[in-house]
Amino acid sequence: MKEFIKKNPEEISFNVFEEVGKKWLLVTTFDKEKGRANAMTASWGCAGILWNKPVCVLFIRPTRHTFKLIEENECLSVNILKDKYKDAHKICGTLSGRDIDKIAKTGLTPVNIDSLTAFEQSERVLTLKKLYADDLKENSFIDKTLLANYKSNDYHRMYVCEITGMYEAKEN
Ligand SMILES: Cc1cc2nc3c(=O)[nH]c(=O)nc-3n(C[C@H](O)[C@H](O)[C@H](O)COP(=O)(O)O)c2cc1C
Repeated sequence: MKEFIKKNPEEISFNVFEEVGKKWLLVTTFDKEKGRANAMTASWGCAGILWNKPVCVLFIRPTRHTFKLIEENECLSVNILKDKYKDAHKICGTLSGRDIDKIAKTGLTPVNIDSLTAFEQSERVLTLKKLYADDLKENSFIDKTLLANYKSNDYHRMYVCEITGMYEAKEN
């Protein structure tokens, strides 16, 4: 099995803009009803310090199956895959875990990290615990041009999550 090395958030040197915006995140949650994990591509998110804790903030539309699963689970994982696995995002960013077992379809190999599903093909894994959730609101937008992102009124729910573990794949 692939080895992952646990790091302190302060020890990590990565470009969050590149990792989130270009490599993308695989937000992985557990579906208790279906008895399987589900993974969703996300390219909007942030990482930093809040309430003196290392945090990762995710933005999930209510239409996603992942939304229901994040609501039902206290913890989740975020995986950053090596570039060569971009095909997995074609599946996880377009199909829904409501309809199919997306992880099986990607061919990714699930591994257990801190009792959460992560992937052998990840170069980085964050384990997260939800701290705070709130829906983005039309009235709170200062730059109203951004409302173009919400033509169907499907405002993201913002999840501020504590980064409880940060793991890097050990290269052989
Ligand atoms: C590159 C990319 C980035 C995405 N980023 C987000 C995001 O940050 N938040 C979100 O709610 N959906 C995002 N999506 C859409 C979901 O990944 C997509 O709707 C997915 O099929 C939802 O899967 P689920 O129903 O299994 O949760 C993104 C899709 C792609 C392709």
